[in-house]
Amino acid sequence: MMSRRELIGSSIGLAAFSVLPAPPAMAAIPDIVPVPDSRLAKAATALMDSGGSPEWADHCRRAYQFGALLMQKAGVHRYDRELAYLSSILHDLALTPKYPGPEEFPIRGARLAGEFLSDQGLGAADVQLVQYAIRYHLDIGITDYRPEVRIVPTGSLCDLTGAGLHLLDRRQIQAILDYAPRHEFKKEFIRSSNGERRKLPLAPSSCLGLLLQPAVLAAPFES
Ligand SMILES: [Fe+2]
Repeated sequence: MMSRRELIGSSIGLAAFSVLPAPPAMAAIPDIVPVPDSRLAKAATALMDSGGSPEWADHCRRAYQFGALLMQKAGVHRYDRELAYLSSILHDLALTPKYPGPEEFPIRGARLAGEFLSDQGLGAADVQLVQYAIRYHLDIGITDYRPEVRIVPTGSLCDLTGAGLHLLDRRQIQAILDYAPRHEFKKEFIRSSNGERRKLPLAPSSCLGLLLQPAVLAAPFES
């Protein structure tokens, strides 16, 4: 009788190995939505990351991802990906510790983003569009804006409250959470919105932040 070692080394052993059933094909793991691979997109991402808040930077990353997927679900396919990304990744820049100021954060964020993108060489009309998207990203009820503007409230609200999440594939959601983790985003939202309310108690953005707090705490995310 052949030893086990001889059997493995013989042609019979190799043939026997080759006819073993193939393992079941693994289901494809969904990828994240491609981020525009441009100089401006990289520069804007670096600016957002420089703000000192991984919570808000990753919220902005998820806002682009969720926004792009929900736009796709809504049949919106034709828009400028780079402008949509610039609007999304910079929309909460003014909530990061590095960029405090006395104005409402969407106004300050639009100004900061406009100055930065102009310095980076983006054309005036495109700068204006990104500024508009950031300035009005809390106007969640308005739907007739250009897609590059609408993507911000769509994606941001999905990440804040889970609105629209039921339309997305669970594995796709997980891929986005792996790409841009939540950290302790719910706690950060409460801390940040309370801070904005102390600074500007009657500002519309402060009131909306207060109204959103219960929905953010109840959102279908762990943290
Ligand atoms: Fe946001």
